[in-house]
Amino acid sequence: MNSSLDSSIKYIKTDILVIGAGGAGIRAAIEAKKSGLEVFLLGKEVLGCAHTGMAMGGMNAAMVKPATPEFHAQITIEGGYFINNYKMVKVFSEEMPARVHDLESYGVIFDRLDSGEFYTWAGPKQKFPLNVCVGDYTGREMMQGLVDEARKLKIKYTDEFFVSKLLVVKGQVVGAIGINIKNTETVVFQAKSVILASGGAGRMYKVTTNAMSNTGDGYAMALDAGAELIDMEMVQFHPTGMANTPSTLGVLVTEKTRAHGGILRNKKGERFMSKYYPKEMELAKRDEVSRSIYTEVAAGLGTEKGAVYLHVDHWTKEKILEIIPDVYEQYKNTGVDISKEPMEIYPSMHHMMGGIKINEWGETIVLGLYAVGEVAGGVHGANRLGGNSIAEGQVFGRRAGIAAAKFSNKIKFSNLPKEQIKKEQTRIFSFVNRKTGVIPHVVEDKLKQTMWDLVGIFRDEKKLLKAKKEIAKLIIEAKKMKPRTNLKERNRDLQDCLEIENMIVTAESVVDAAILRKESRGAHSRTDYPKTLEEWRKNIVIKNNKGKIVTNIINVIE
Ligand code: FUM
Repeated sequence: MNSSLDSSIKYIKTDILVIGAGGAGIRAAIEAKKSGLEVFLLGKEVLGCAHTGMAMGGMNAAMVKPATPEFHAQITIEGGYFINNYKMVKVFSEEMPARVHDLESYGVIFDRLDSGEFYTWAGPKQKFPLNVCVGDYTGREMMQGLVDEARKLKIKYTDEFFVSKLLVVKGQVVGAIGINIKNTETVVFQAKSVILASGGAGRMYKVTTNAMSNTGDGYAMALDAGAELIDMEMVQFHPTGMANTPSTLGVLVTEKTRAHGGILRNKKGERFMSKYYPKEMELAKRDEVSRSIYTEVAAGLGTEKGAVYLHVDHWTKEKILEIIPDVYEQYKNTGVDISKEPMEIYPSMHHMMGGIKINEWGETIVLGLYAVGEVAGGVHGANRLGGNSIAEGQVFGRRAGIAAAKFSNKIKFSNLPKEQIKKEQTRIFSFVNRKTGVIPHVVEDKLKQTMWDLVGIFRDEKKLLKAKKEIAKLIIEAKKMKPRTNLKERNRDLQDCLEIENMIVTAESVVDAAILRKESRGAHSRTDYPKTLEEWRKNIVIKNNKGKIVTNIINVIE
C-alpha cells in the first residue's frame, strides 16, 4: 500500500498484468509466468467461464497432410479479402501446430482417428481440412486445459474483476484501475506491462453468439490509452444462430453442422444456397451464407419466426450425437429433436475481425501495452474463417507473454498517476452518487437495437448516418445512467453502466469506419457501394486524438 495514495483504494503490484482470462489471456499469462516474473491474471467471470468456453467447432492448424501452414495462410488471406496483416498471418499459420501440441501438454485431448492421426474437418475454403476439435465443445475443453496449467504454475488470479481504465503516463502503460465486482472495492494494479485480452463486443448487438462479458471494454480502454484500432467496420455475423425461442436467440449452432452435411432450406423447402453460391453451397464463407439467409428471409421465404431451416434430420441419430452433441442438447432443451425435425436458424453477431492494432508480438503503440485474442485486430482482415479465432489467441497469446516479460525485465516500476486514479474513481462512482437518472438497460437496449437495425449484415450511408446520430444521443444519455440500487456487495447495474459506456465507444468506432469504407468487402456489405474496389484494399485505423475520434486509411501490411 502506497500511503501517499487514497486509502479507500487497494493497491497491488505485479510485473505483468493480464486483463482477460479467456483462451488468449490465459495463454499469455502462462508464457509470461515462465519468465519467473510476477504475473497477475484478471477475469470478469469466474475462472474458466470466459467466452472462449463457448467455442464449438474447433481450431485451424496444419496438423495433417496435405494441409500445410502455407495453405492455411493462403486461405486465411483469401477468406479475409486480402486486407489481413500478412506478417501476422504467416506467423500464425506456421506456429499453430506447435500451439496445438502445447494444449495437448496441458491435458486437452483432441479427437483422433483409430489410426492415431488427428481428426480434422473442413470448413469453408478448406480444400485440405484444418479444423482440429473436441466434439462440438472444443472451447470448453481448451479452457479446462489452460486453467489447469495456470493453476499448476500458481499464476495469481482474481475472479470477477472489472478493469475500467488503463493508467498511462507519457505514452507508457503503468497499470490499471477497476472494481472488484463482488464488493465494489476499487483496486489499482501497478504493472510494468499490461496484456489486454478482454475479448470482443458482441453484446452491443441485439442478437449475438457472445457471452455476457463481451462488452467491448478493451477497445474503449485502448482508445482512451492512446492505442489504435484497425478494421473496426468488419463485424462477423455467424450464419447459424438459434432462432426458435426468444430465450435462446442467437446461440451458436456450429459450422461443423454444415461441414458434415447439414442442409439449409427456406420455408418452401428449397435448398436456397444453390441460387447464391451453387458451387460452395452451405459451405460458402460466413459473410456469404449470412447474406444469403438474410436475403431469403427479406424476400418472405423465411419461417414465421423470421428464420430458415437447417436440416440434419437426414443423419442418423448416432452421427448427430457423435458430431454435434451440444447442438443436439441445445435444441432438445427447447423441445426440438433435431434428429426428427429441422432447426430454425438466423445469422447472429459473432466476431469482431477488427480490434487493437498490434504487431506480430502483440505490441501496441503504447509502450508496455500488448493486446491479444479478439480484442486485437489484423489477422482476419474483412472476414474470419471459422476455426481461426481460438487458434490465433494461442499463437499471439504466447508471443505477447514472451514480449511482455522481456520488456518488463528491462524496466523499473513507474510511479502511479494519482490524478488519473482519483478522476477514474470519481467517474465510476458518479453513476451511483447522482440523485436521479436513467436505468442502464434502457440505454443498452437502444444501442443493441440501433446496431442490429442499422449496422448489420447489409449497410448503406443512410442507415449508417442514422446510427451515428443515435449513438451521439446515447453518449449523452449514458452520462445520466444510474444503477437501481446503491448496493456495495455486488452492483450489477453499476457494472452495466461501465460496460454500456464501453459498448457505445466501440459502436461509434464501428460506425465511423463503416461510413468511411465506400465499397463492399467481406463482412462489410454496402448496398450503395456493392463492388469490391482495388483502391480500397486498405485498412482503416482509428485513434483518439485529445478526445476526438480520428480515422486514417493505411496500406495493408504485407
Ligand atoms: O461455428 C463454429 O463452431 C464457430 C467457430 C469459430 O467461430 O471459429
